Amino acid sequence: MNILLTGGTGYIGSHTAVVLAEAGHRPVLLDNLSNSSADVVDRLAQITGTRFPFIEGDIRDTALLRRVLADEGIGAVVHFAGLKAVGESVEQPLRYYDNNVGGTISLLQAMDETGVGTLVFSSSATVYGQPAYLPLDEVHPTGATNPYGRTKLHIEEMLAELAASGTNWRIACLRYFNPVGAHASGLIGEDPNGIPNNLMPYIARVAGGRLPFLNVFGDDYPTPDGTGVRDYIHVMDLAEGHRAALDFLAGSAGAGWHAFNLGTGCGYSVLDMVRAFEQASGRPVPYRIAPRRPGDVAACYAKADKAADQLAWRALRSLDDMCASTWHFQQRTAR
Ligand code: NAD
Ligand code: UD1
Repeated sequence: MNILLTGGTGYIGSHTAVVLAEAGHRPVLLDNLSNSSADVVDRLAQITGTRFPFIEGDIRDTALLRRVLADEGIGAVVHFAGLKAVGESVEQPLRYYDNNVGGTISLLQAMDETGVGTLVFSSSATVYGQPAYLPLDEVHPTGATNPYGRTKLHIEEMLAELAASGTNWRIACLRYFNPVGAHASGLIGEDPNGIPNNLMPYIARVAGGRLPFLNVFGDDYPTPDGTGVRDYIHVMDLAEGHRAALDFLAGSAGAGWHAFNLGTGCGYSVLDMVRAFEQASGRPVPYRIAPRRPGDVAACYAKADKAADQLAWRALRSLDDMCASTWHFQQRTAR
């Protein structure tokens, strides 16, 4: 099937393109390159031996999307394109609503007009807000603690209403936990501009000597070692979750709207991650305890049973693989 990947040159989109191509699909990438580089298209060609069609463009350009959906004979869309920095969303909420919510409306209009009804949406565990219980299952109440999270929630709700309005829609919202790691080639991975906000790219730069030490945001949480606990998932496992979701949507149970957690179900602390990275890289990761980061929760991890039962998917890769592949990418390709 021809599958449009909005945000296809980004971190998760590029890994998913590899998995979809290996499964016999033809990925078509569309990205405005606001947070990625066109070099990724070359690297994907190196990995897969196939040069995927790439359209540099913005999802808010509905006419462009209509053209791409029709001209490329698209059968399904995986919608990664979006802005994702929590702090930035607090400072620039309108930009987030315009890009994420406005951009999704534009995409949905183009899909509606061209009769493409199958959509996999990149959602986030952030839609659960402050956890009321753990592990988080898909029926946990939703909420948002910042504008970024609220864009994800608005989009999910909009998609549920859309799916209920007609029979052509087959929509899966994939609620990612904490994606980390890189493709085994070391050619694609997560390489944020400037100082990373997220833990894994920050640790990788400390291990590589590009940053002096890690700030551990809080050691007085009610967790085994006092530091924050998260459900880190290898990006290749996550990518395979998209393939599984597309298969599910194509089947008899796929009509309507669905939400799935994509996580491992295991929680690791910040200090667990430091130790695992030191082990995988053979380099020290010096750290200092710093105050808690505003807005952080103590612990967040998934109940991943629904995806196992309905998508026949589960995360298989180890924490060591997450750290080793991050380190390999850091050494081989990261700027
Ligand atoms: P990313 O920034 O690497 O990829 C997103 C891509 O979308 C980028 O290449 C960017 O240039 C592109 N883009 C942004 N706005 C666009 C627009 N208006 N038109 C066209 N392209 C646009 O991020 P990622 O980590 O690959 O995340 C992909 C999706 O998954 C995002 O929607 C993100 O919110 C969601 N998500 C990510 C995480 C995570 O930890 N990485 C967790 C939960 C959810
Ligand atoms: C953050 C976002 C979340 C988003 C996700 C992926 C917040 C509040 N949440 O999740 O909405 O979906 O990124 O983009 O920003 N940590 C340190 N030092 C650091 C960086 C992080 O100690 O320099 C700690 C954090 O306090 C947390 C853990 O590491 O306990 C993971 O942090 P991070 O990688 O930023 O992910 P989340 O906060 O889970």
